Amino acid sequence: MFNIFKKKSREEAKLFYHTDVHSHILPGVDHGSEDVGESLEMLRAEIAMGITHVMCTSHVTAETFENTPESLTAAYELLQKAVDEEGLPIKIYASAEYRIDEYWTKEYEAGHILPMPGKRILLENSFAQELIGIDNMMFDLQVKGYRPILAHPERYRYYYGRKERYKALHSASVKFQVNILSLAGYFGSGARETAVWLIQNNLCDMLGSDMHNMEHAQIIMDYIGSKDWRKLCEKYDLPHRIVNDREFEL
Ligand SMILES: [Fe+2]
Repeated sequence: MFNIFKKKSREEAKLFYHTDVHSHILPGVDHGSEDVGESLEMLRAEIAMGITHVMCTSHVTAETFENTPESLTAAYELLQKAVDEEGLPIKIYASAEYRIDEYWTKEYEAGHILPMPGKRILLENSFAQELIGIDNMMFDLQVKGYRPILAHPERYRYYYGRKERYKALHSASVKFQVNILSLAGYFGSGARETAVWLIQNNLCDMLGSDMHNMEHAQIIMDYIGSKDWRKLCEKYDLPHRIVNDREFEL
């Protein structure tokens, strides 16, 4: 009996928004999707959850994934061809999740970057420590017409004891994108509690899947079929407060 209900909720669970702003679906450019077949499977999961537009934000990090607009566009074109052949009802966009490090600084200064529509840039902080000068960098981006989005702020542990930094960054017009995987508890209790705290404090602008594989997709599908997710959506009126679709107007 339990399994039947579980399956039913999985099939019916839809997100209230249609734009996924964070994913690792492009094939073969980071430790997300390995090939076009896996990418298509992940896109089918997105469609099942009601997503119609996907920002493909592959990692760009020093030494590990030194992607360029050219390498990302090549992977995107490969996937777009397959999406067309399969006739999938979903639109994909090539962009990146830029780790703020020496490679980012070099590429940014050279103007060699691939933003999302509307010059939005998804940025990832270091997981070890806050970057010195991050406030100036966020300011500089905005002066140049970019709109920075901080990826999964709830995952940076060094902010847990100094939440005023969240407020400072957010009030400097940096948008915050929380991972649904964090809300589902995938990254542990600290990330989950901080994700809820960000929502409670009006510091969560967007939600993202950050899916790297089908395991992530399945966790998200299960979670959005749960009572916990429904209660969170109702309690904090998430459908009206989360701006994924409004932000991009695609
Ligand atoms: Fe990511």
